[in-house]
Amino acid sequence: MDDPALQVMTMADSGLVDEVTLLLHRVKAVRGVSGLSEGRLRALHGASSGQGTQFLAVAARDPSDGQLVAYAQVDDEGDRSYSNVELVTASTDASAERLADVLLDSVVAEFGAAGGGPLRLWVAQPQTRDDRRASSLGFTIERDLVQLRCTLPLAAVSSARMAGPEATIRPFRVGEDEQAWLIANNRAFAEHPEQGHWDITTIEAREREPWFDADGFRVLELDGKLAGSCWTKIHANSDPPMGEIYAISVDPDHHGQGWGRVLTRAGLDWLAEQGLRTGMLYVDGANTAAMSLYRSMGFSTDHVDRSYVIDVPDARQA
Ligand SMILES: CC(C)(COP(=O)(O)OP(=O)(O)OC[C@H]1O[C@@H](n2cnc3c(N)ncnc32)[C@H](O)[C@@H]1OP(=O)(O)O)[C@@H](O)C(=O)NCCC(=O)NCCS
Repeated sequence: MDDPALQVMTMADSGLVDEVTLLLHRVKAVRGVSGLSEGRLRALHGASSGQGTQFLAVAARDPSDGQLVAYAQVDDEGDRSYSNVELVTASTDASAERLADVLLDSVVAEFGAAGGGPLRLWVAQPQTRDDRRASSLGFTIERDLVQLRCTLPLAAVSSARMAGPEATIRPFRVGEDEQAWLIANNRAFAEHPEQGHWDITTIEAREREPWFDADGFRVLELDGKLAGSCWTKIHANSDPPMGEIYAISVDPDHHGQGWGRVLTRAGLDWLAEQGLRTGMLYVDGANTAAMSLYRSMGFSTDHVDRSYVIDVPDARQA
C-alpha cells in the first residue's frame, strides 16, 4: 500500500461511526481484541450525536480505495484532568508499526495545535515497541491496568464472612440510590483519576447503556445505609462470554472488615447465576488491596494494558 492519506477531524458523524465500527470488526477478527476502549467508543458515539466537549481524530485511509486502515482519537470522556488518546491499526505487519508512528505523531501534533494540555495514551497489551513509540514523543509510563479472570462459579466457602443481621445485599434501585452510591463510591475512589469524580450525569448515562442491569448492580447496606457496591456487566458476545466486575467499592469507613470480599462474591455469584463461566475485571496494578483480594478469590492475570502521559505544549504560542 502507498503511504496512507491522513485526514484530521474535529467532529464525528454516523459515517465515521460506521467506518470505525468496520475497522474494529477487522481488528477483532485478526487479533481477537476490541481495538478501542469503551470510553473512546462512548465519546465517538457522543460526538456523532452532538454531545461531548472535546473530539479530535485522525483517520488513515488506503489511497487506492479510501478504506479506513488506522484511526486515532482524542477526547475528554472519563477523567476530567486529562484528554485521552488511543489508536488502532488494521494490519499487524511492519507497515502497521510505521503507520502507528505516523498516526500518533500526527494526533499529538494536532492536539498541540488545538491548544495542547495533559494527554493520556492508552495501549492495550503493550509491547516494547509501544513503550518506545510513546517515549520517543515524550510520553512517560503512568500505570498498568491488569485484566484478571477467574472461573465461575466460585468454590463454595463455609468460613467467609457473610452479611450479618444488620447487613443486606440487594439490587441497586434506579431513581433512589444514585446520591448515596455517588458519595460512597467517590469517597472510596478519592485518589482514582477516572472513577473518583462521578456525578449524577455520569451514573444516569450508564443507566441508559444497553448492558445496564440493576439486578447485577449489587448494593451493600449496613444499618440501612449504602456502604458499598459491586456493579457487574455482562459481555455476552466476547469469546468466551464474560461477566465483569465493572466497579466495586466499599466506603472507607468500612474498609478492612471483610465487606469487599462479601461484595466480590455477591457480584460473581450473580454472574454465575446468569450462566457465565468466566469472571473478569480490570484493576490498577498498584492497587495492592484489590489485587490481593482478587488473587485470594481465584483470579489470575490475563493481560495488561498501559497508560502513558505527557503535557503537550500549546503550539499556538510557538
Ligand atoms: C478494594 C476494596 C473494595 C476492598 O474492600 P475491603 O472491604 O476493605 O476489603 P476486605 O476487608 O473484604 O478484605 C478482603 C481482602 O482484601 C485484601 N486487602 C484489603 N485491604 C487491604 C490492604 N489495605 N492491604 C492489602 N490487602 C488488603 C486482603 O487480601 C483481604 O483479605 P484478608 O482480610 O483475608 O487478608 C476497598 O479497599 C475499596 O473500596 N477500595 C477503593 C476502590 C477500589 O480500589 N476498588 C477496586 C477497583 S478494581
